Amino acid sequence: MEPDDPVCLCFGVSKRKIVNYCRREKPPVASLISECLSAGTGCGWCIPFLKSLHQQAIEGPENPDLPLDPQSYAKKRALYRQTGQREEKNTESHSDNKI
Ligand code: FES
Repeated sequence: MEPDDPVCLCFGVSKRKIVNYCRREKPPVASLISECLSAGTGCGWCIPFLKSLHQQAIEGPENPDLPLDPQSYAKKRALYRQTGQREEKNTESHSDNKI
């Protein structure tokens, strides 16, 4: 994800704003990132990603990042909003249990 890509799509808060907020304010818990332009207070999709950026910023890597491209991120979020489910964690193989 690039710095200006939005992480919180509900409020259009970019990765750059979130990382800068974490570095500047050093919030002790990720939930306080909501003070940064309300990030995370809408649909809730971005909360795990906010937590990841918070952890990375606190632990001090040079460039906290999310290993997602903005298009697939937005697509997964749209699916989340439709179904209330995050993507399937495992793709269960359809084993033939027929006897
Ligand atoms: S994408 Fe951040 S609250 Fe919806």
